[in-house]
Amino acid sequence: MTTQPSLLQQLPPDLDANRLPKQVAVIMDGNGRWARQRGFPRVMGHRKGVDALKGLLRCCRDWGIGGLTAYAFSTENWGRPSEEVDFLMTLFERVLQRELAEMMTEQVRIRFVGNLIALPESLQSAIAQAMAQTADNTGIEFTVATNYGGRQEIISACRAIAQEVQKGEITPEQVNEELFAQHLYTADLPDPDLLIRTSGEMRLSNFLLWQLAYAEIYVTDTLWPDFDRAAFHQALQSYQQRDRRFGKIHQ
Ligand code: IPE
Ligand code: IPE
Ligand code: MG
Repeated sequence: MTTQPSLLQQLPPDLDANRLPKQVAVIMDGNGRWARQRGFPRVMGHRKGVDALKGLLRCCRDWGIGGLTAYAFSTENWGRPSEEVDFLMTLFERVLQRELAEMMTEQVRIRFVGNLIALPESLQSAIAQAMAQTADNTGIEFTVATNYGGRQEIISACRAIAQEVQKGEITPEQVNEELFAQHLYTADLPDPDLLIRTSGEMRLSNFLLWQLAYAEIYVTDTLWPDFDRAAFHQALQSYQQRDRRFGKIHQ
């Protein structure tokens, strides 16, 4: 992690500790552009992106944010050149193994969401081990979306529910928002209050389609590897200026 100015180690005084998002989601975009701007191969951007993610996770912890969900690999990202896909899979595995001890010290509880059975087997084992080992940790809840697609998640929830109905375990009338959410990968995780997307693109790219229904969306032109505490501070300033009405009106 890069050294941050000490004044950002604690919650900046202009932020209201009582109005922080409980759950933050981030679409970590722009690694390739970051590398290209420097004349590096794209994969260098992914490497730097890991440092940015570590920095954000630590910042969330320091500033009292309970959960972070990061989009690491989408179901659509398989369409990239195989060298890049292979690099990413190996990177995920190495980083997991390398960071596990520190996650234990920092009490991070890590979980992965997505269609994990389609990942390389060695990565699946590293994921299973990291999830099991950190399951009882009491610190920040860190969720990594890997081979994740929002549409695919919704379809698999529908299938599971249809099977329960078919077996007579539940009736169609029992299918409601709460039950549906319990069949998503994110069951028992709160919905994100704030979604951050780096690199300027104003789209969801199939991320948490159900869960983001009422998230505040913040898009910055900063490329993911450059997203530091100061950039996160700006995102939170913007978030705290929002008026979250949830369809109601002020009286
Ligand atoms: C995001 O950065 C990382 C992944 C999708 C794995 P990109 O690799 O999409 O970077 P750009 O968008 O090409 O700059
Ligand atoms: C979204 O970024 C996926 C991740 C950050 C893992 P992409 O770069 O894949 O999204 P598009 O292609 O710009 O929509
Ligand atoms: Mg991209």
